Amino acid sequence: MKNYNNLILEIEEDFYLIKINRPKYLNALNQETINELKVCFEFIKSNTENKYGIIITGSGEKAFVAGADIKEFNKIDESSSSVFCNNGHSLFNLIENMSIPVFALVNGYALGGGCELSLACHFRIATENAQFSQPEINLGLIPGYGGTQRLTQIIGKTKALEMMLTANMISSKEALDYGLVNYVVKDFDSGMEKCKEYISTIKRKAPVAIKNVIKSVNNFYANDIDGFEHEIKLFSECASTKDFKEGIKAFLEKRCPDFKGD
Ligand code: CAA
Repeated sequence: MKNYNNLILEIEEDFYLIKINRPKYLNALNQETINELKVCFEFIKSNTENKYGIIITGSGEKAFVAGADIKEFNKIDESSSSVFCNNGHSLFNLIENMSIPVFALVNGYALGGGCELSLACHFRIATENAQFSQPEINLGLIPGYGGTQRLTQIIGKTKALEMMLTANMISSKEALDYGLVNYVVKDFDSGMEKCKEYISTIKRKAPVAIKNVIKSVNNFYANDIDGFEHEIKLFSECASTKDFKEGIKAFLEKRCPDFKGD
């Protein structure tokens, strides 16, 4: 573990809480923040025992994340742009493939790379004041942290094209209608409560099954993997665990299972 310049990592009993901490710049993702998030998620990836979720949110009242840091865009040209994109892609792939669920608590603007960050998470909980947009087209760009793909996967081509071609901001209520968010809450505190509620439900499930649900669902979108074939492998992996035996035994004995993670 290390100290971060742009993040606050809180380790709670059942989960991790990551706050992106650049409120003066609406938590815009500069390269240092992207790199710190990678270090932070790699640390968590190696320390998931007895942890059942990761909540990521923004500091301050106004923003989750207002996008990539536009002030750094002056340094980007045709040759460096792929390095810029790859750096974001590797972070967001890391998040999407965590073995415990990641919750984006979207507490204000989620624009550009901020919307894309939320899309890489497994759950999106939005406060009433949250606003989502992919405004890259206003800068002569397209989303570069996976947004063209994940937004289309999550809300479908019709609304994804509309969002990316118009750059219009949508409210949390519209985001709920689009299927972009799981739940809308009044404010940050109720968002934390909602995330904790999901985490306490997931805590009662078998860890190998949690990991394999995430893996198998992600496989649906991987071009080089036959998701159906892999589902059989992942199902078999679950069936070889003691937790599976415990799940069956508990059902037959009409009690709650006591999963141990092995
Ligand atoms: N990058 C860098 N700085 C940003 C920023 C960003 N994305 N968004 C906001 N800021 C900074 C502002 O420059 C300002 O800093 P200064 O006080 O030093 O000028 C500070 O945060 C507060 O912002 P505003 O004064 O603009 O606040 P506002 O309430 O008037 O407006 C806003 C809020 C509508 C979100 C506006 O800040 C805005 O439009 N921001 C840019 C949003 C954007 O275009 N994001 C997409 C970036 S591109 C991208 O993300 C590409 C990708 O796919 C990877």
